Amino acid sequence: MPGNDRPILIVPSVLPADFARLGEDCVSLEKAGVDRIQWDVMDGHFVPNMTFGPDVVAAIRPHVTLPFEAHLMIDNPDLYAKQFVDAGCQRLIVHAESTRHLHRSVGHVLDLGAAAAVAINPATPPDAVRYVLDMVDMVLVMTVNPGFGGQGYLATMEPKITAVREMIVRGGYDIDIEVDGGVHESTAAGAVRSGANVLVAGTGLFTDSEGLEHAVTALRARGESARV
Ligand code: DX5
Repeated sequence: MPGNDRPILIVPSVLPADFARLGEDCVSLEKAGVDRIQWDVMDGHFVPNMTFGPDVVAAIRPHVTLPFEAHLMIDNPDLYAKQFVDAGCQRLIVHAESTRHLHRSVGHVLDLGAAAAVAINPATPPDAVRYVLDMVDMVLVMTVNPGFGGQGYLATMEPKITAVREMIVRGGYDIDIEVDGGVHESTAAGAVRSGANVLVAGTGLFTDSEGLEHAVTALRARGESARV
């Protein structure tokens, strides 16, 4: 995919981590060589699951030097954006489907001094992000329906990844494409060939029998070898 000569980044979701040892697992992820950590924030309304709030993120912040990004799978993200920035997140990912005024919500994240990204669910067309591309540094194309880890990768999202990458290249934007959901060694190549360069993985990293470092290295290598 032309325009995807961007570095392959590995971003773990801590959803499959041992919540009784979350701090230790995050330290292990840093030692394993990941590029940043993604917090899957869920409110039980936007998605049928609940996870962590800003206090949990803040508790882990002093123990890890990596950047944090909050994947806000919540209704009314404007109400909580400042709390996640104050908790130590450098980037907030806002779902296009979660706010009535996406342009205003992305602008609110920028006003807080954080980087802003926009996410789109499987049924949401790529054009939903068109008029915020001048504001974000990343587009997250979900490759599962959000709410749970360990789901199957939706390869039907690959044409959408390509459509978003073409929009970015045509507009001359400096924007990463992140994929999240069912991303592991056997699915990463399709996502990268389609135009993604940031790989979010949870199950695929935490279930590697050879450990996190092996999983991170193998996933990055798979992504880099898939670039045309
Ligand atoms: C879905 C979550 C998951 C999680 C990683 O709402 O966002 O995609 O990050 O999932 P797996 O375990 O499929 O890598």
